[in-house]
Amino acid sequence: MQIALAPMEGLVDEILRDVLTRVGGIDWCVTEFIRVTDRLHPLATYEKLAPELLHGSRTRAGTPMRVQFLGSDPQCLAENAAYACELGAPVVDLNFGCPAKTVNKSRGGAVLLKEPELMFAIVEAVRRAVPAHIPVTSKMRLGYETPDGALDCARALADGGSAHVVVHARTKTDGYKPPAHWEWVAKVADAVKVPVFANGEVWTLDDYLRCRAISGVDDIMLGRGLVSRPDLARQIAAWREGGDVQPMPWHEVRALLDDFWRQARRKLAPRYAPGRLKQWLGMLTRSYPEAVELFAQIRRESDCELIDRLLQVEVEEAA
Ligand SMILES: Cc1cc2nc3c(=O)[nH]c(=O)nc-3n(C[C@H](O)[C@H](O)[C@H](O)COP(=O)(O)O)c2cc1C
Repeated sequence: MQIALAPMEGLVDEILRDVLTRVGGIDWCVTEFIRVTDRLHPLATYEKLAPELLHGSRTRAGTPMRVQFLGSDPQCLAENAAYACELGAPVVDLNFGCPAKTVNKSRGGAVLLKEPELMFAIVEAVRRAVPAHIPVTSKMRLGYETPDGALDCARALADGGSAHVVVHARTKTDGYKPPAHWEWVAKVADAVKVPVFANGEVWTLDDYLRCRAISGVDDIMLGRGLVSRPDLARQIAAWREGGDVQPMPWHEVRALLDDFWRQARRKLAPRYAPGRLKQWLGMLTRSYPEAVELFAQIRRESDCELIDRLLQVEVEEAA
């Protein structure tokens, strides 16, 4: 059984991958999607979006990181994937689920679910271009408007050479609206021979257990649930091992947030760092009442030094 941290563009970047994988329980993580249109990305793209490649393609905690691509041109995707492998990517993942209008307009992401033949051609071309020992994997939604074609899409991915398929159990039209249709993960798992990961709407250990019961699938990819509850993977891993499930107390989450902020201050431009902190803290409010209070204190602040002071006060109060 494996637990993966979902790729999330604009959210799960190098900093959050570092912080979340250090909590434990995560078997592997994925870069934000790298969009491929008509050219080979230069090294600088990978240094920005996948800096872990320079460190053995692992986060500081030692968690393997995979590189995800999004696009519709099989040849161009194949060339980029081959280059990523030269740089050290241990697995190449392909995105067939992004709902963004700009991406779908240029025939990338979820809109490809209308064209299973093209999905097959993409996976096959990428599979052929990367060394045989490097797995190619895929992530799909159930469909564009309806899940009617989900099984054809999953078969196209598996037949093309996907080593596994992650199923975000919603259509593009569903967006991120609950519920996730975990029963469709079971149908996909029956239709293909490769392992299937369930994804979507798992926020707690109980959600995982329900998802597992309905989908019949053990492997899970956690997105917003893990960002909102940083020890969710660790809780699931502890349950799996029959151990005690001890939820992380707020003061430990606070320490992660401080670390996140220190990294954001070091790595991001001052005009971006506060927004990133508020984005994560806003998501933590879903699981921790203490985060609501802290969020209220900094939500209007955009000055980094002022936020430094605010967080420092909070750290002293918590100690
Ligand atoms: C802000 C955001 C960015 C995302 N970016 C990506 C991405 O780059 N690649 C991808 O395959 N999925 C992306 N997704 C989808 C997630 O990986 C995941 O499939 C989705 O959030 C459902 O899982 P969840 O309910 O556990 O969050 C993104 C989702 C969100 C909310």
